[in-house]
Amino acid sequence: MTAVPPLLRVEHLGIDLHRPRQAPRTLVRDASFDLAPGEALGLVGESGSGKSLTSRAVIKLLPQGARSRGTVAFEGHDVRAMNRALLTRYLSHDAAMIFQNPRAHINPVRTLGDFLTEPLVCHQGLNRAQAEERLIPLLAEIGIPDGPRRLDQYPHQLSGGLLQRMMIASALITAPRLLLADEPTTALDVTTQQDVMAILDEQRHERNLALLFVTHDLELATAVCDRIAVMYAGTIVEQRPAAALHSGRRHPYTAGLLAARPGLGAPGARLPVIPGRPAAAYESHQGCPFAPRCAFSEDRCRVERPPLLPDLDGAVACHRADELAGDLDRTKEEV
Ligand SMILES: Nc1ncnc2c1ncn2[C@@H]1O[C@H](COP(=O)(O)OP(=O)(O)OP(=O)(O)O)[C@@H](O)[C@H]1O
Ligand SMILES: [Mg+2]
Repeated sequence: MTAVPPLLRVEHLGIDLHRPRQAPRTLVRDASFDLAPGEALGLVGESGSGKSLTSRAVIKLLPQGARSRGTVAFEGHDVRAMNRALLTRYLSHDAAMIFQNPRAHINPVRTLGDFLTEPLVCHQGLNRAQAEERLIPLLAEIGIPDGPRRLDQYPHQLSGGLLQRMMIASALITAPRLLLADEPTTALDVTTQQDVMAILDEQRHERNLALLFVTHDLELATAVCDRIAVMYAGTIVEQRPAAALHSGRRHPYTAGLLAARPGLGAPGARLPVIPGRPAAAYESHQGCPFAPRCAFSEDRCRVERPPLLPDLDGAVACHRADELAGDLDRTKEEV
């Protein structure tokens, strides 16, 4: 946890889906993390672990029927309790989000100028010309030198990479202090991914933005973030400084993810895999959610849920973290 007072505090966040005539389903069980001003936190985990829903809960953008519990506080103000006026202010000044697929979030029948100037015209009282005047330099800054021409174009006239830059511009134009980026480069080809990531990284440092970066790419997260939070089955199971994650990981799931990265083994060697399949939050009712796949689990792990406990430089939720230290690279057969 950080010594600086957090810009964002998420404490024991849970999300349940309520559907007519069916029992509520837990989608996120227990997520806790802080984010200091200017800090980047990578939220990593397998598909379905709850990363997107956790980040969406920060801006109260949950699917229909989903209800959250716990705390989401921005500068000490509970986002979940904000009324419409406060929420509008929070979303139009303090926090912004970039999504995986920009095409799904930009109206295809309106120009990019309409899309990008809207927050300034609707929430900051600027007229269209003033809004464009503020936009053009920002577009140039993020690698779009021909801004005036682009503002007259429609989304289908732009490549995926260019559209994602427009999405970044729309997020930055209100000068937020908190940026949520949910897999912002996953839909792009590799070279475009690098460009978009470089822009995000540069802008975050220049603007002292706090960044919650959601990704399944642990390598990328450790490269661009200060800290990493590892999520499994709707629960954050470990948090650590990015630089210390590889040598200091204490959760068997984190160790499994790190070992499964390509490029670290001998040429031609098979990559280690985590046996079994990822569990959803609603499938793990008791005990440690990772226990059924964990080479080190014992009886206690299957019945008692381990809390996320702070340690020297992070936090871990594993009953056996203290005793396992040097053993984490061993496989099920070796244990
Ligand atoms: N609108 C929804 N209705 C019902 N269940 C949902 C909805 N959105 C997400 N879920 C479920 O909630 C769980 C968490 O989903 P979430 O999208 O947060 O996962 P994720 O970690 O972002 O996965 P991915 O890496 O695939 O994007 C999953 O089991 C998912 O199926
Ligand atoms: Mg997701």
